[in-house]
Amino acid sequence: MQDNEAPTFTSTFAQEVYEGLAAHPKHLSSKYFYDEVGDKLFQDIMAMPEYYLTDCEFNILEENKTKIAELFGKNGAPFSLFELGAGDGKKTKVLLRHFIEKNIPFDYRPIDISQNALDQLEASLKEEIPQVEINTLQGTYFDTLRDIGNANGRKKIILFLGSNIGNLLHPQAVEFLKNMRDSINEGDLIFMGFDQKKNPQTILDAYNDKAGITEAFNKNILARINKEMGANFDLDKFLHWEVYDPETGTAKSYLVSKTAQDVFIESLELKVRLQPWETIHTEISQKYDDAVVAWLARKADLKIITELTDSEKNYKNYVFKK
Ligand code: AVJ
Repeated sequence: MQDNEAPTFTSTFAQEVYEGLAAHPKHLSSKYFYDEVGDKLFQDIMAMPEYYLTDCEFNILEENKTKIAELFGKNGAPFSLFELGAGDGKKTKVLLRHFIEKNIPFDYRPIDISQNALDQLEASLKEEIPQVEINTLQGTYFDTLRDIGNANGRKKIILFLGSNIGNLLHPQAVEFLKNMRDSINEGDLIFMGFDQKKNPQTILDAYNDKAGITEAFNKNILARINKEMGANFDLDKFLHWEVYDPETGTAKSYLVSKTAQDVFIESLELKVRLQPWETIHTEISQKYDDAVVAWLARKADLKIITELTDSEKNYKNYVFKK
């Protein structure tokens, strides 16, 4: 934006904000939605009737917990259950409770970018299922896959629920799956949720609720920049805008500037000029079909062991091995 020397950044968040808002077209990464406020807003999203993903996956886990326990705990070998992007663990608790009831030997290692989410998860588990042996790990997916790779001893199961994979474009998803593959051994498993292509209206409604919770969630990235970098974004001057392309299965979220505006980000010494109706792209939420998941698995050299779904095939959980 300015001709100044490239500044030094105090965090990757700061650097990515600088680069994303200086770019054409502008973009910010959805991984920065999640601070204490964002975590709470995402919990509210999961509780909305429009956001079908959570209930679908919850029911798939509930209905298949015996089968899943047999798969994970095969031959009675103890395993470490790693969970990427564990969040509040609401769905995972279905499995944890079942494993404890069946005396299946395992330990639980939730990983999340939000330390706040991990603290809450740990506290709630101590209350609800105190028998679970838990060790939390804070970090991005990419950092923590390294830690998983370095962990030794027990059989590893990696959970990646909620269709979190959908935040990645296909080439990144392939890279990510390859990294997952590299962090596990023969006999280890990857258990993942993939939201499915469906009536486009159902998808648009899930990401554009009438109550405006998703809007607040999307705008929370600007609120964070205001708080953490001394910026002066006026959230009311942005529209939350969702599009879904039924051909590619890609849902995209934008913040659209309703007017010409100048925003100053103090700690980055960055002036951001927005034209009327200029966009900031914030998130993709990819939807899948069988062919695409098979293609991703093939590209990453993973084998599909089984898939679990609901009666409407709105959502699927896949089990992969290397
Ligand atoms: C947590 C990434 C799976 O993309 O569906 C919910 C986040 N964004 N509503 C998704 C989200 C808007 C969610 N994931």
